[in-house]
Amino acid sequence: MAAWPGTGLLERDAELAAIARLLAAAEGAAGAAMRVEGPPGIGKSRLLAAARGAADHAGLRVLSARASDLERSFGFGVVRQLFEPVLARAGADERAALLGGAAALAATVLEMPGPGGDAAEEATPAALHGLYWLCAGLAEQRPLLLCVDDLHWADRPSLRWLVYLLQRLEGLRVAVLAGVRPGEGRHAPTCSRPSRRIRSSRRCGPRRCRRTASHA
Ligand SMILES: Nc1ncnc2c1ncn2[C@@H]1O[C@H](COP(=O)(O)OP(=O)(O)O)[C@@H](O)[C@H]1O
Ligand SMILES: [Mg+2]
Repeated sequence: MAAWPGTGLLERDAELAAIARLLAAAEGAAGAAMRVEGPPGIGKSRLLAAARGAADHAGLRVLSARASDLERSFGFGVVRQLFEPVLARAGADERAALLGGAAALAATVLEMPGPGGDAAEEATPAALHGLYWLCAGLAEQRPLLLCVDDLHWADRPSLRWLVYLLQRLEGLRVAVLAGVRPGEGRHAPTCSRPSRRIRSSRRCGPRRCRRTASHA
């Protein structure tokens, strides 16, 4: 059950409830995705931070990344941010297990970083498939939250993998949560197929917030 200790967030009850449902879906092997969308300063990153805290509190494994305009041409940069820490922390045996079987195909992405580049061909079917199995293997151990902030700046191969994952979420103990600015980034429209979308139409803080939530 998600909890919101000390988030300090004002007027975000509905969004936090939606995030709680997202996390519960992952715990129940009903993989789901959600996009938090809004202009700069509206509170997307704060909301994502609260989600990470709640997920951690609930016992999910949290993998997070923040895309950057400056790293947009760094192929699989976001994917590496997501998975490298957990592989770096794993012992040799666990790492071998995580990258065993079909997940071995992910090693080409995670262990042999190339010169980068935005070339779509970097996101080969083998690499996408391997990364999917790495993700599925981690989620078998315990439910997973993949949290990507500033998705509108993500590199194209990472976006392609996220799309690949979103199409195969069913039955996985995986929640995908992304923060994105509307109308920015040439890839953003193609990368998010969320089960739920949240738009915050006014800035938070002392002023009152209005929220619209819709099923995508
Ligand atoms: N619901 C909220 N209640 C209180 N402060 C908030 C809330 N949402 C955002 N803030 C504050 O507003 C500022 C901008 O939030 P941030 O999450 O960085 O926005 P964004 O990621 O959308 O650009 C931060 O100082 C943050 O602490
Ligand atoms: Mg932000």
